[in-house]
Amino acid sequence: MGIPVKMPPFKTVFVTGGAGYIGSHTVLELVEAGYEVIAVDNFTNCVCGTEGQAASLKRVEEITGKKITFYQCDLLDKPRLAEIFKKHKIDCVIHFAAMKAVGESMILPLLYYKNNLIGTINLLEVMKENNCLQLLFSSSCTIYGNPDHLPINEKHSIGNVTNVYGRTKYIIEEMLVDLSKAEPEWNIISLRYFNPVGAHHSGRMGEDPTKAFTNIMPYIGSVAIGRKPYLTVFGDDYNTPDGTGVRDYIHVMDLASGHVAAMAKLAASHLKIKAYNLGTGRGVTVLELVRTFEKVTKTKVPVQMLPRREGDIESMFADATLACEELGWTAERSLETMCEDYWRWQIANPNGYRETDTADVAAKLAAIKESHGECSCQSTVNGVH
Ligand code: UFG
Repeated sequence: MGIPVKMPPFKTVFVTGGAGYIGSHTVLELVEAGYEVIAVDNFTNCVCGTEGQAASLKRVEEITGKKITFYQCDLLDKPRLAEIFKKHKIDCVIHFAAMKAVGESMILPLLYYKNNLIGTINLLEVMKENNCLQLLFSSSCTIYGNPDHLPINEKHSIGNVTNVYGRTKYIIEEMLVDLSKAEPEWNIISLRYFNPVGAHHSGRMGEDPTKAFTNIMPYIGSVAIGRKPYLTVFGDDYNTPDGTGVRDYIHVMDLASGHVAAMAKLAASHLKIKAYNLGTGRGVTVLELVRTFEKVTKTKVPVQMLPRREGDIESMFADATLACEELGWTAERSLETMCEDYWRWQIANPNGYRETDTADVAAKLAAIKESHGECSCQSTVNGVH
């Protein structure tokens, strides 16, 4: 459970990868919880807005009415990272920044090892130089590999990873364990995410993939909006209720609140190092996700069955009891809410964070309504419903 310590609550949080999908939603949640945020990002996985600002964080400022301090910074540029870090009095770091496309990681392994591992080492060294030893690390359920049992709890073995991206997460977790053994004054939580989907309910923030390699929800969205003719489903012969792969989809805002809960834990206890699963505990098949999306958004998502995707796991879902017991956190939002919030973001921002022509949005919405009937989730973009 960790040794309770009396230390002042954290005030200022340094967030790497703060402009990315999970990063930006977490920044929003942190700001709303009263933290001051210093965010850095190198724009590998997100959109640079006007004047070098992060487009996603501009939206956070718009929603919260609070200013986010942001720097464009690559963690491989250690002198710049050190310079930024020194400018502020940082209490805790949340480390999201990483290259994250599974397929790409198999083609460009050195790039992934360089960015994810060296970037993390640079960050840890800079933290140590500044006597900041409080860290939340963004890990992934992918480090469990093919599960021996379901649901997966934190005691499940790790390391049997099927892709390079996941291996970088696994190696970093192992490195953090070694660091904690050598220097027990570090206080570290690894958060193992299951499959984050959805968007902030305002429709102003969401996932905006910058690469062709994406996860299932953006694919479903692009079929529903008419950019792609059908969703390819990878495998219908798994030992699951309908033969398609099972995952634990978690709303990105639940994931974000998991970080706020974990930070409170770090501030209250000296854990040395501990890992927590962040998932809902519910396994959902690909077809169940598609049907739910169709029902909630009143759209059609035709599917085409293809053979299994190489490296895919049959079923994966969390036992999130530990996070509930020790962090006081549980995922609250339903699969319906995940789909509804994703869709609200998608139709209001067909070009993601890139500038959107209001007339274009109005035309898209009209076309969707005409072909599929009225959507249950209302959206407003610059006054367009
Ligand atoms: N799927 C399809 N068609 C698609 C895309 C995905 O059928 O076009 C299926 C997959 O086969 C799988 C499920 O949808 O059964 C989810 O696939 P994703 O690609 O969305 O997610 P993965 O579970 O494969 O992996 C994701 C991230 C990893 C991360 C992992 C756990 O890509 O980075 O979740 O967090 F490590």
